Amino acid sequence: MSSMTQLWRLVLVCGCLMIAAGANALDAHSYANIDDVRATHASLNLRADFQRQQLIGTVDLTFDRLSKDVREVVLDTRDLTVRKVELIGRRNRALIFEMGLRDAILGSPLKIQLPAVPGATFKLRVQYETSPEASGLQWLTPAQTAGKQQPFVYSQSQAVHARSWIPLQDTPQVRLKYDAHIETPRNLLAVMSASNDPNTPRDGSYDFEMPQPIPSYLFALAIGDLQFKAIGARTGVYSEPSVLAVASHEFADVEAMLSTCEKLFGPYQWGRYDLLILPPSFMWGGMENPRLSFITPTVIAGDRSLVSLIAHELAHSWSGNLVTNNSWNSAWLNEGFTTYLERRIVEVVYGVDRRAMEDTLGMQSLRVDMAELEGKGDRDLTKLRVNLNGRDPDEGFSDVAYEKGRFFVGFLESRLGRDRLDAFMRDYFAHFAFQSVSTEQFLDYFEAQVLSKLGDAKLTQEEILAWIDSPGLPPTVVEPKSDAFAKVDEAKESWLRGELNAKQLPTGQWTAQQWLHFLDNLPRDIPARRLGELDAAFQLTTATNNMIVHSWLLDAIRAGYEPAYARLDQYLTSIGRRKLVKDLYEELAKSPEGKDRAKGIYAKARPLYQVPLADQLDKLLN
Ligand code: BES
Ligand code: ZN
Repeated sequence: MSSMTQLWRLVLVCGCLMIAAGANALDAHSYANIDDVRATHASLNLRADFQRQQLIGTVDLTFDRLSKDVREVVLDTRDLTVRKVELIGRRNRALIFEMGLRDAILGSPLKIQLPAVPGATFKLRVQYETSPEASGLQWLTPAQTAGKQQPFVYSQSQAVHARSWIPLQDTPQVRLKYDAHIETPRNLLAVMSASNDPNTPRDGSYDFEMPQPIPSYLFALAIGDLQFKAIGARTGVYSEPSVLAVASHEFADVEAMLSTCEKLFGPYQWGRYDLLILPPSFMWGGMENPRLSFITPTVIAGDRSLVSLIAHELAHSWSGNLVTNNSWNSAWLNEGFTTYLERRIVEVVYGVDRRAMEDTLGMQSLRVDMAELEGKGDRDLTKLRVNLNGRDPDEGFSDVAYEKGRFFVGFLESRLGRDRLDAFMRDYFAHFAFQSVSTEQFLDYFEAQVLSKLGDAKLTQEEILAWIDSPGLPPTVVEPKSDAFAKVDEAKESWLRGELNAKQLPTGQWTAQQWLHFLDNLPRDIPARRLGELDAAFQLTTATNNMIVHSWLLDAIRAGYEPAYARLDQYLTSIGRRKLVKDLYEELAKSPEGKDRAKGIYAKARPLYQVPLADQLDKLLN
């Protein structure tokens, strides 16, 4: 090793130690002293002030004491103003507290002194206010909503943003039940990741209960001009009034998805399953908040072509919400299993061809992501078991957790057979229900339940560990194959060779997935003139499917296809979903003129974007 590399290693190691020093030994993304005390219940009492863009109120946290002589409780916070901390008792008692230094990723530890060793259980009340810039809350002006009349606020707690709106032990190792009282302006409706009564009177005062223990990253709240429309007996949609009809039409299959997943993987444990359609600022495609998934409006294509995202968020009701990764280093347990479950649901509800296409798109996207990570010197992040210590976990998420995770499960299926794999998963979800597990616990359980009963000829420990701890894809991968895509490739090649003109491409029956495959696999150096031929034949610049437009705009930037630039501007200033906008900015930033264009657009778009996305784009465009 060169001395330069050695030095670099040393810097890295020291950097990690410095971060780890403050953080918790069990979860490097939390300061909470969870070996000493663990919260079991939270009771929120908050008022939403839209003028000041703040939540103001209290949280009562009930703790179990685990260690004998604990005299301090450390909570995670980020940009909170803490007014007061009390020990709740016959007479409440004010406690001394101190806010530690702010870390850019972790926020600030709130250190609370206990006057004496508390009882086996005890309760603290924290009185606090959030910051208008809270990373886990997005405050929107009326102009940033669909209806333009009322303001909106929504939370996004995963991965480490719950602490920006609730002081708590912000680690997936701790699960708690909660209740909440939320005060809003009278004409707005509040909803949470809890019991939502579709018929609640709209009076500005709302009560919620989440009777099952959930990790902090699943705490969720949204307030806006929301209405409800039922889809099935236990499913429905919340959205702004103007979106309700199209959304409930688009997601009509959610009831079928739910019963499919139950049939395959065991009972749905959460009562209702509703969808909340957010304004386009939402930086994620979806967020699996229990009982109420938060969904980007950009998946409403009119033809249900993008609804696998709903299958995904729903599937988290098993892999993720019921059985939870115990730190972000094991995120593949949540996302990989969920992506596998998602594809199984798609197979039942939409057929094997659609599933094969989505698997293939997933594999392509995985390969692109892995190549990018390698290029950045982050080869270690192409393992399933990763070390995100010292990193922002939001940025550590890549297709590796999702698609490499999904293909790992597919590999298991290829060796065990479907029936045996499904039986294992049902056991796994039942055995670890309402618990948080690590990669090691998963491996131990798999060994005990499956491997030990199977001959080495079928499946070995080494083969499994190659998936978990080796970078890239192991040779045991089962490649997806789509005949529908093979036809697209054939037609594409003929067009590229000039044997067909654009109008002769057999696109009449193409699905959205086939279009994506076509656009994503055009040659990187395709001339603008050839994109012009496609545009004239298929009006891609004015297409309405947001995924297709995204792939088209990427091609357009690469080729310098100017007729699409106005659309690019309009797209980037109306959508805040990271997956759709970030790589367009990145592609633009590759050339000096492109970077100028990107900066011009970003100046207009930034107020629409969620805080963590804006932070990332600020860095990219400086
Ligand atoms: N849990 C994730 C969203 C998430 C991941 C939020 C990491 C914060 C940090 C959610 O289930 C998800 O995976 N959403 C995907 C869509 C899905 C179809 C792949 C997304 O938002 O792109
Ligand atoms: Zn997910």
